[in-house]
Amino acid sequence: MRRDPLVPSIDLTGKAAVVTGSGRGLGLAYAHALAAHGASVVVNDVDEAVAEQAVKSITEAGGTAVAEVVPVGTSEAADRLVSRAVEEFGRLDVLVTNAGILRDKVLWKMTDDDFDAVITTHLKGTFTCARAAAVRMREQGEGGTLILVGSPAGQRGNFGQTNYAAAKAGIAAMARTWSMELGRANITVNAIVPVAATAMTETIPAFAPYIEAMRNGEPLPDFLRKGEGFGTPEDCAALVPFLASEAARGVSGQCIGIGGDKVALWSHPQEIRAAYADGGWTPAALADAWPTSVGAELQTVGIPAPKFPEA
Ligand SMILES: NC(=O)c1ccc[n+]([C@@H]2O[C@H](COP(=O)([O-])OP(=O)(O)OC[C@H]3O[C@@H](n4cnc5c(N)ncnc54)[C@H](O)[C@@H]3O)[C@@H](O)[C@H]2O)c1
Repeated sequence: MRRDPLVPSIDLTGKAAVVTGSGRGLGLAYAHALAAHGASVVVNDVDEAVAEQAVKSITEAGGTAVAEVVPVGTSEAADRLVSRAVEEFGRLDVLVTNAGILRDKVLWKMTDDDFDAVITTHLKGTFTCARAAAVRMREQGEGGTLILVGSPAGQRGNFGQTNYAAAKAGIAAMARTWSMELGRANITVNAIVPVAATAMTETIPAFAPYIEAMRNGEPLPDFLRKGEGFGTPEDCAALVPFLASEAARGVSGQCIGIGGDKVALWSHPQEIRAAYADGGWTPAALADAWPTSVGAELQTVGIPAPKFPEA
């Protein structure tokens, strides 16, 4: 096991983890980070070649990993992943529900297939895998860690991402709900909100030139790493072993942003203004009171545009 001299207490030796969609991108970085801190990992992907390559690279780095190639989104796939961890490593302690796809279109052009594919992979994939893991972890009786994967799009809404924003908002809602349901079993549940250069984001036009420069060996500028919290998948990966460790046993029900040089805690939705009418509101009374009461300062939506430095 590679020991990080700065955080000697993060030791996951003896723990077993499943990371969905871990053949490439962020999932691969999470799998590497878990293995580097001592956990045995079931790598999962739909793409057999990248899954096998991920196992090879983790093993070559001194870690322990096996591949289970199956598309998450069904109960059968979830059962296979949990069973594989138990067969190979005798237990399951950590689940990261990272597998994901995009099918971006504006509402009026989005097909049922676009919607269903994204909801199945992200939302149902997270639900089915977490349920199978929770059953196993409750049987083991030693607690556990569920790390779900949200997105700024789910927190704020995003143009062209009806399906994805809905799935990711649902995932944040499930993290809050399951943190309550699984608290007594000492199973923590959090949603992480990563931002990183991967196949999923490298096509975003504003970021493309910076990602290309980074791939050519240039460092990302501070306005991206700190201002936007945008960097490499490896930048996001530290959060996963931390949440899986004893150091984070008290952290549950949270949405935690990570990327570049930044880690951040997202707020949960809550009422921010209220007004009262004796006996209840009429439409006319709402129209009258709205501009000066609850409607005085409306909430913004969407992911703020990147703040590029002045040319
Ligand atoms: N990259 C970002 O900045 C960013 C931001 C917010 C959220 N996320 C989320 O992080 C996760 C990983 O994203 P990424 O950028 O690494 O994407 P990626 O496309 O680089 O990797 C996703 C991996 O998941 C696999 N996959 C797809 N469908 C699958 C399925 N049904 N079962 C198993 N594996 C499947 C893919 O083959 C791929 O290897 C996703 O949930 C994504 O929504 C990413």
